[in-house]
Amino acid sequence: MPERYGNIVGWGKYVPEKIITNADLEKILDTTDEWIFSRTGIRQRHVISEGESNSGMAVAAAREALEMADVRARDLGLIIVATSSPDYLTPPISSQVQHALGAKDVGAFTLVAGCPGFVYGLATAHQFIAAGACDNVLVVGSEVVSRFINKQDRSTAILFGDGAGAVVLQVTSEPCGVLSFVLGSDGAGAQDLILPGGGSAAPASHEMVDEGLQYLRMNGRQVFRFASRVLGRALKQAIQKANLTTDDIDLFIPHQANARIIASAARYVKLPEDKVFVNIADYGNTSAASIPIALCEAFEQGRAKIGDTLAFVAFGAGLTWASAIVKLGEKTAPLPVEKSRISLFELLPFGGISSSIGSDLKRNLAQFFSPLSTFAQKLFSRSRG
Ligand SMILES: CC(C)(COP(=O)(O)OP(=O)(O)OC[C@H]1O[C@@H](n2cnc3c(N)ncnc32)[C@H](O)[C@@H]1OP(=O)(O)O)[C@@H](O)C(=O)NCCC(=O)NCCS
Repeated sequence: MPERYGNIVGWGKYVPEKIITNADLEKILDTTDEWIFSRTGIRQRHVISEGESNSGMAVAAAREALEMADVRARDLGLIIVATSSPDYLTPPISSQVQHALGAKDVGAFTLVAGCPGFVYGLATAHQFIAAGACDNVLVVGSEVVSRFINKQDRSTAILFGDGAGAVVLQVTSEPCGVLSFVLGSDGAGAQDLILPGGGSAAPASHEMVDEGLQYLRMNGRQVFRFASRVLGRALKQAIQKANLTTDDIDLFIPHQANARIIASAARYVKLPEDKVFVNIADYGNTSAASIPIALCEAFEQGRAKIGDTLAFVAFGAGLTWASAIVKLGEKTAPLPVEKSRISLFELLPFGGISSSIGSDLKRNLAQFFSPLSTFAQKLFSRSRG
């Protein structure tokens, strides 16, 4: 059986049209463009308007990625939506996205891991593909942090923006995709970045709103210290786990939270400035969407290309962190054992027992039945029109 890798074969992004510049913030907050830019690297951020939503942005980014990948939504094996700012606490935003995409009956879940959520999602998608459970996985990072910001709080109102990015990972036998990853969490820092109200600990009430618990609270200095400590280290660990050195990294695409934090992580692993992708000036911190948006821009600008080895690293609420080394491979023909063949096997009269048999046996049986399944598949696709 060939090795299975999850190659990134499609990518897309969506950012709302409305822009809030530092000059706009100067008018409503005790702050200056000079202060914001020198401390964070941010010049402006995009925010959603009335009528826009997190799920709407996620779907727009996902459609672009699917189109580029040339994968139909209904042929996805799994949808992962990383976000901390869903439309609703329940139902999960992942099901809204699945439905809007027309990905009929495709499994979908929401991944909440703070700003590193997209990198957690990549690592998860990679595992599903490597294990043979899925051939195509959609990973979306989408956020509307602006809806949870107190516009009078200058410590958070200057930082965050809205947006979405998505990628499609597809199975290939060529060694590429996620080469290594590191995931970390330290709940001891929970209070340093927290949205205290609206969850089950403090459900919506007049008192909760009077206390302003519906807004994101941040201990900026603590988060800065934490990020400076973990980011470079996580990046170095992922490079070592992939059996690579810093010289092998073509482009470093970090979570866009603060230009100074990014620079310190790059210095830690001795990455030169020209190998670091920074677009924080235009978008601010878009949380779990920041890396996929930056990835799309890196492609658009020709800074990322097929054959490159990329390094992703992020930190955020939890506190959490994650890094991954990703090789961009050529799109290849599908592997010989196709998902559709196994699906057909599950439709056979004894398919009901299939969940209790080993996956190797299941694969062998699936291959045994494959001529029949290919024939039936053709019939199905004809009847679907
Ligand atoms: C928030 C952050 C930019 C603040 O920068 P900083 O250099 O740490 O600034 P400090 O919080 O120490 O504040 C320095 C001074 O600026 C003031 N200040 C804070 N926000 C300000 C603003 N928007 N405009 C002007 N002054 C501001 C503070 O009140 C403080 O004044 P003081 O010295 O009189 O007490 C920085 O800590 C940061 O980026 N932290 C990480 C946050 C992050 O990434 N969060 C998301 C994680 S996913």
